[in-house]
Amino acid sequence: MEIKWWHEKVAYQIYPKSFYDSNGDGIGDIPGIIEKLDYLKALGVDIVWISPCYPSPFADQGYDISDYYNINPVFGTLEDMDRLLAEAKKRDMYILLDLVVNHCSDEHEWFQKACEDPDGKYGNFFYITDKKEGELPCNWRSYFGGPVWETLPGHPDKQYLHVFHRKQPDLNWENPEVREEIYKNINWWLDRGVSGFRIDAIINIKKKFPFADYPVDRPDGLSSIQNMLKEATGIGEFLSEMQARTFGPHNAFSVGEVFDEKDEELPDFIGDGGYFSSMFDFSTTIFGGSPNGWYDRKIITPDDYKECCFHSQQRVGDIGYLSNIIENHDEPRGVSHYIPDGDLSLHSKKLLATMYFMLRGLPFIYQGQEIGMENLHFQSIDQVDDISTIDEYHVAKNAGLNEKEALSCISRYSRDNARTPVQWNDSANAGFTSGNPWLPLNPNYKEINVASQENDPDSLLSFYKELIALRKNPEYKETIVYGELIPYLEEQHNLMSYYRKGDKTLLVLGNFQKEPQTVKLPSACRKVLLNNYPELNISDDSVILDNYQAVVIEL
Ligand code: NOJ
Ligand code: CA
Repeated sequence: MEIKWWHEKVAYQIYPKSFYDSNGDGIGDIPGIIEKLDYLKALGVDIVWISPCYPSPFADQGYDISDYYNINPVFGTLEDMDRLLAEAKKRDMYILLDLVVNHCSDEHEWFQKACEDPDGKYGNFFYITDKKEGELPCNWRSYFGGPVWETLPGHPDKQYLHVFHRKQPDLNWENPEVREEIYKNINWWLDRGVSGFRIDAIINIKKKFPFADYPVDRPDGLSSIQNMLKEATGIGEFLSEMQARTFGPHNAFSVGEVFDEKDEELPDFIGDGGYFSSMFDFSTTIFGGSPNGWYDRKIITPDDYKECCFHSQQRVGDIGYLSNIIENHDEPRGVSHYIPDGDLSLHSKKLLATMYFMLRGLPFIYQGQEIGMENLHFQSIDQVDDISTIDEYHVAKNAGLNEKEALSCISRYSRDNARTPVQWNDSANAGFTSGNPWLPLNPNYKEINVASQENDPDSLLSFYKELIALRKNPEYKETIVYGELIPYLEEQHNLMSYYRKGDKTLLVLGNFQKEPQTVKLPSACRKVLLNNYPELNISDDSVILDNYQAVVIEL
């Protein structure tokens, strides 16, 4: 694998609406991000990915873009963005934007023009078909529920395709003019000083033609998009063209939101000269998923978590460089998701941080993760903003779950868990805004907030700083960034342990349970590099790990 500038970095995701509000309108903004750059720098962050901040009617919280060349006025102005880029540069930090080009907003000029003249140039920017009485072109289910087809505004005889919300019409990548427009926009941002992109929903850009039905997999009579995607071939032509025309010449960093790629495709996606610099490892976030919906998901255990991580690591090996996460804006809070119910504690949060952060790859921290923000427990569906959670609530109820059961299911998996505002301090609204927050805060902000952790050497925030400092320590950097990952005692229940082997040999050990457990050592420990307890009960040939104790040792 070729060495690249981003390998040794640490990345952080900002969901701008909920990060920090500088002007009291209840919505986070770009000046708010600028104010907090020093906080991120002090944490040790190098790369900052900002979820969409372009003009958007917010049908899907900004993932429905109505102008690719501007900033949403609620977030600021283009000048604010330029200032952010300059301030980041001063601090040796890199800004990534979100590239959302599977679809745009139905309020984008292209779609408006397509509605004016579906047979004209812009009609071909989308997938528009003639309607036939009582029949859809295919039975695909949109990701947010219901068919992917919607009547074209002003044209009762026509319909357009949207694999996400009906306000997110899919762009027709088969049309070279569409691709040109996209590359032009990417290069425009890269020339402006952006260092790269996180690439949204990219696996959906290639459809299987002609439109056809797939086996019905829910009582709604529709079929998951995944069934179609499995059969759609040829995405590589689009992706390699995009790479060659944009990211490649700019030496830009690109991280793909890629699902369901096949083993043999890995080198094409993230190998040397691949479509992307990296892609997220979603093996733990998708674990246990059911075609029936969230209500039917299997809850992940520590052993499942370990297996998912090891499987991804072994699959990718030295082919490329994964991006590792425990949460993002589409997921529940990682600590609530992966730590078994009843076991949440400072120790278990530190253990989870250690386990994923020491994997081979680029670690991403999602805002608030570094202070251990937790899931919100919804009391009523009226507290929910997110469209996919509302859909899953109805799916659960239609499957026969009662109100309480449906709420408990969506509380576990809702993406709104990650979208509550960042908890900066214990003052009103956690210091996030002086106005009314757009989404309610998690009431636990009095206990969990940045201010209370900043000067506490034992806090989770301080622990993340230690993890980052270890990754950047010149003595261990080569091993942590590039060293091979080899599972150790893989079969031992509730133990997650692995070697990182480079110019040094490190062993990462985590006791994923409350009860202490003894772990045999392959050789004597030379040095303890990280420990989430003040002490370690260790001899030359074994170690006894306490309740959720995690350590990194040098052998
Ligand atoms: C993935 C994004 O992360 C998610 O938030 C969004 O709803 C969909 N793609 C559609 O853009
Ligand atoms: Ca604001």
